[in-house]
Amino acid sequence: MPAAITSKKLLDMKKNGEKIVALTAYDFPFAQMADEAGIHLLLVGDSLGMVVQGETNTLGVTMDQMIYHTRIVAKAAGTAMVIGDMPFMSYQTSLSEALFNAGRFLKESGASGVKLEGGAAVCKTIRAMTEIGIPVMAHIGLTPQSVHQMGGYRVQRDRDRLLEDARKVEEAGSFSVVLEGIPADISEEITRSLAIPTIGIGAGAACDGQILVMHDMLGINAGHVPKFVKKYAALRQNAVEALRTYADEVQSVKFPDKEHSY
Ligand code: KIV
Repeated sequence: MPAAITSKKLLDMKKNGEKIVALTAYDFPFAQMADEAGIHLLLVGDSLGMVVQGETNTLGVTMDQMIYHTRIVAKAAGTAMVIGDMPFMSYQTSLSEALFNAGRFLKESGASGVKLEGGAAVCKTIRAMTEIGIPVMAHIGLTPQSVHQMGGYRVQRDRDRLLEDARKVEEAGSFSVVLEGIPADISEEITRSLAIPTIGIGAGAACDGQILVMHDMLGINAGHVPKFVKKYAALRQNAVEALRTYADEVQSVKFPDKEHSY
């Protein structure tokens, strides 16, 4: 099996112009499939709250839930780098709580880094984490934990602020930065101005890599998906059809047949 992907490898990929493929994952079988498909980075996102727990936002996700899911994903990942997403209020209240919680991801779940949302405002936290050896992926632009402050999930267009946030999170020591919900021309400018890789979601093609929520791109969700999501499969539809057939066959005593009986 090839060696696990590290933050240094991602940096080399940017230097070589090789695109980084990232995806969210929350459980063993899907993480295993993503790893087998050659995904470079698996983010155990706090999108967990929406796509697995059925909530309308990510705010209720807890540290214990994140550790539980990250441990499962890390167990399945052979070569993909696994990053744990720090949930709302796990890093905002104090530096010591932020360090303690980031440390939990590395000690208890097998993740090799953490992600947190915010630009200039979280740079002290990013610096403190990277100084003690915790790799940090930053996340700027549309930051879902600030949904109430943003007044919804809105594309962020303040070019100067976005460029400043990107520059500051790089300076603070992040090994990469997620650009979410940002016009393509601004993302391109940010990507060109940084040495660290940018990973886009709804941020155009110029980013050094792309990330999508697994349940969106595989068509597992019932609800609306944002414009930037391309559906690569229709797993929900396939599953409902299979489940209907199973229900019909049990009721019509077609299943179990001889082949599936002892
Ligand atoms: O929580 C999440 O899944 C994320 C990605 C969409 C970047 O933050």
